[in-house]
Formats: sequence, C-alpha cells, structure tokens
Amino acid sequence: MKRYTITEYTQDVFRKWLKEDGLYIDATVGNGHDTEFLCKGVESGKVIGFDVQQLAIDHTAKRLEKAGIRARCQLVLDGHEHLMKYVEPESVDGIMFNFGYLPGGDHQCATRKETSIKAIEEGLRALKPGGILSMCIYSGQDTGFEEKDGILEYLKEVDQKKFVIIKSEFYNRPNNPPVPVFVIKQ
Ligand SMILES: C[S@@+](CC[C@H](N)C(=O)[O-])C[C@H]1O[C@@H](n2cnc3c(N)ncnc32)[C@H](O)[C@@H]1O
Repeated sequence: MKRYTITEYTQDVFRKWLKEDGLYIDATVGNGHDTEFLCKGVESGKVIGFDVQQLAIDHTAKRLEKAGIRARCQLVLDGHEHLMKYVEPESVDGIMFNFGYLPGGDHQCATRKETSIKAIEEGLRALKPGGILSMCIYSGQDTGFEEKDGILEYLKEVDQKKFVIIKSEFYNRPNNPPVPVFVIKQ
C-alpha cells in the first residue's frame, strides 16, 4: 500500500478551508501538485503561485494546462518573502508552504530560514481572519536543521490571541520525519 504522505495529510486538513470563490496562495509551487489541488478547489476564485525557479513555474503551468485549469492561477517568478507585493492585507483565504527543494531539481535552490520566516510573517498579514496557513517542514540529509529549528522557534513566539498554531507529528517514523504545521488566524 502506498504510504500516506505529509502533502496528502496537509491537503486533507486544508480542504475544509477551500471555497469556490476564495483567494489562495501556493508559496512554493515546485512541480505544481499543491497548486493543482488549490486550483481544482476554486471555480470562480483565484490562486497565486510563487517560485524562484523558472523550471518550477514551467512544470506547474504545464500541469495546470493539462488539467484545464491554467486560467485560475497567476504564476509569479518571485520569492514568497515578497508576497505582500501581490495581495492586500487580510485578503487571502489560505496559504500553502511546502519548504525544501524541488524534487528532481537543484538541491541548492532550496528554501532558507531567513526568507521562509519573512514569508510566514507576510503570510500571516495577508491571511483573512478565519484563514489557514499550512506548512510542510523538512529536515536532515541535504536540508539540515537550521530552517526547521528557526521556523519552529519563530512560531512559538507568535501571539496566541491572534493565531492558533497546531504542529502535528509522524509519531512512529524514524529519521527526522517531515513536520506538518497549521496556523489559523483568529
Ligand atoms: C518542496 S518544493 C515544493 C513542492 C511543490 N509544493 C509541489 O507540489 O511539487 C520547494 C520549492 O520551493 C522553491 N523555493 C525556494 N526558495 C523559494 C522562495 N524564496 N520563494 C518561493 N519559492 C521558493 C523551490 O524552488 C522549490 O521549487
């Protein structure tokens, strides 16, 4: 049987927040799996997808074209740390982050602690009250621990009156399993 993955789990939780006419951000489009998931959920709404690699933007555009939902997505070749350049404060229903490197791509072109934390900060400003921000956080091997530790340390200090933060765990999986985290704006 195929193993249940962090991206499936994240999408399963996120699905409850998908509204046909909503505005969503995929902050790390990569090969476009999450972008496709979001676009399928918004018939009259919109998805904005960010990546710093042209290759990722091209792969995602192709995937969306094939699925017949390319028109629902604005793909942006820019870092997610600049996302507030593209949206108004408190205008976004949901944001997905899948940190790390492009599978099958350049491992050096991975997300980094400083820009990831800046992007989460911008994401929290962009979210509507009631909106959700999801994260898949990786560590170990090529990725190291700096980004994961930095993000988790940052999240611990986020105002609990304004945001609920839930961190899940692949409890019986050894060797630094990925960490799913959800932030809900009050
Ligand atoms: C794990 S992959 C994303 C996988 C993707 N969600 C999917 O479904 O295929 C991480 C992506 O983050 C991108 N990335 C790295 N730094 C970034 C940044 N500052 N802003 C936006 N994307 C970035 C990488 O180029 C890579 O494509």
